[in-house]
Amino acid sequence: MTTREPIDQQQAWQALSQHAEAMRKVHLKDLFQEQDGRHERYARRAAGMMLDLSKQRWRDETLEMLLELARAADVPAAIDRLLSGARVNLSEDRPALHTALRLPADAKLEVDGEDVVPGVHRTLDHMATMVAKFHAGQWRGATGRAITDVVNLGVGGSDLGPLMVTHALADYRPRDVHPVEVHFASTMDGSQLADYLARLNPETTLFVISSKSFTTIDTLSNALTARDWLFSHLADGDDVDGLVMRQHFIGVSASREKMSEWGISECNQLEFWEWVGGRYSLWGAIGLPIALAVGMDNFRALLDGAHAMDRHFATAELADNLPVLLALAGIWNVNFLDIRAHSILPYDGRLEYFASYLEQLEMESNGKSVTNEGDSVTYSTCPVLWGQLGPNAQHAFYQLLHQGTQPVECDFIAPIRRYDRVEDEATRKHLKGQHRLTLANCFAQSRVLMLGDDAIEDDGPRPSHKRYRGNQPSTTLLLDRLTPETLGALVALYEHKVFVQATIWDINPFDQWGVELGKKIATQTEQILTSHEGIESLDDSSRGLIEAVWRESDY
Ligand code: F6P
Repeated sequence: MTTREPIDQQQAWQALSQHAEAMRKVHLKDLFQEQDGRHERYARRAAGMMLDLSKQRWRDETLEMLLELARAADVPAAIDRLLSGARVNLSEDRPALHTALRLPADAKLEVDGEDVVPGVHRTLDHMATMVAKFHAGQWRGATGRAITDVVNLGVGGSDLGPLMVTHALADYRPRDVHPVEVHFASTMDGSQLADYLARLNPETTLFVISSKSFTTIDTLSNALTARDWLFSHLADGDDVDGLVMRQHFIGVSASREKMSEWGISECNQLEFWEWVGGRYSLWGAIGLPIALAVGMDNFRALLDGAHAMDRHFATAELADNLPVLLALAGIWNVNFLDIRAHSILPYDGRLEYFASYLEQLEMESNGKSVTNEGDSVTYSTCPVLWGQLGPNAQHAFYQLLHQGTQPVECDFIAPIRRYDRVEDEATRKHLKGQHRLTLANCFAQSRVLMLGDDAIEDDGPRPSHKRYRGNQPSTTLLLDRLTPETLGALVALYEHKVFVQATIWDINPFDQWGVELGKKIATQTEQILTSHEGIESLDDSSRGLIEAVWRESDY
């Protein structure tokens, strides 16, 4: 890797900075007035979706300059390196090959001289065998009863992706199979797990311990509680013949050794690889809960959709490349218009967990402040990104979007078609009406955010607290329908957007050293909390908090 001139010192960046001086004074409504056909000019289609970037605060020349910036950062070469398995994760010296998890079986991709595709498909086949067994009612617990409930124990990437997709594709649950409910427990405080343990039957419950490292304390503390619960109910406290472990636990990790140490039977171990980042891992074994919930065919359709986006990313010109354009819109807002907050607003209840999924994907990937060469960056990187279902957020934080002091970029996401599969005609009609209402709200909100007061034709005099300034930029993404394929493509779109931004910012999106120190200090703090020794080494606030706990609890 050659050392690159800092991006903000390159001509393309400086030209954009100058251009932004002028653009900051231009209102979005003026951009629409000065350019006919703006929607068509800034809309692009691929992989079952349409991306409308016309409500960004830019002109044709802005986009040209941003494309020049992408070329200056050598984005096309970076895309090639990512997809071909180069060691793009520099601090950990390994490739980031989540895209290999969705390659078709007849593809070939060598990492360190070995084709990784057969291994990927072996794991998919292993998952398929497991799923078939559950769906046939043949996966039985220690007392011989078929498993009906599967609880995924994982956190971060080992939770958010499967949780988000399982919820999003709930309409795709297979009928005519033995029903298996999938649940998720992630929090280290055990509150989610306690709730499941109170209402599930140990005889018919299985736990999937999902952890790439198999060292994450959040997950392992939940797993220990679950193991004791099963042992005490099914094995008189001691699983002498290993039956409970065999019938009630599956492990998913990059470390077979650690799974074995924990007692996961070899045949219940699903493997993935160090070259798959945790937050990029839903496409393989970590996706087992998805496959259990929606069936293996739909899981494979999800992979196909993501692969279609990968192909588009690899082959489309920069100016027509959806992930590249989405990334450039973000860069324009963050680095040149000083808009450092970004809200994700899906208008479909099935995408309830999409924003929290993206919070990890974007902020854990690009929340960085040193370049690949180890220098401090002299420009902003990832914005603060948060979100919520749009219709609900309208009654929560949209007030700030419309009349607050913070500029915010918004992504509106909605499916064009909905409820086609509802069988009862009257219900279908009502639900379609609700969908129409939802689309109207989605389009109305982005319009008001753009135009402000000008959205109302008859705009008589109004007091200032009833005025809207508008000029908040947004992107709208319309999916033809929300299917396994389009969802796969949607997630891949954001994965690649993150990569393009990281390339331009010259940061590594595939490590997360920022979370390590907190883990270390938490371990020390727990030792002090438990042993009552060493508190004098802490600061006054931490001491006060710990002493308050000691005074009021039995710790
Ligand atoms: O603490 C952050 C993190 O490392 C994430 O990157 C990861 O997705 C999560 O923890 C869980 O890690 P693991 O899958 O190894 O348990």
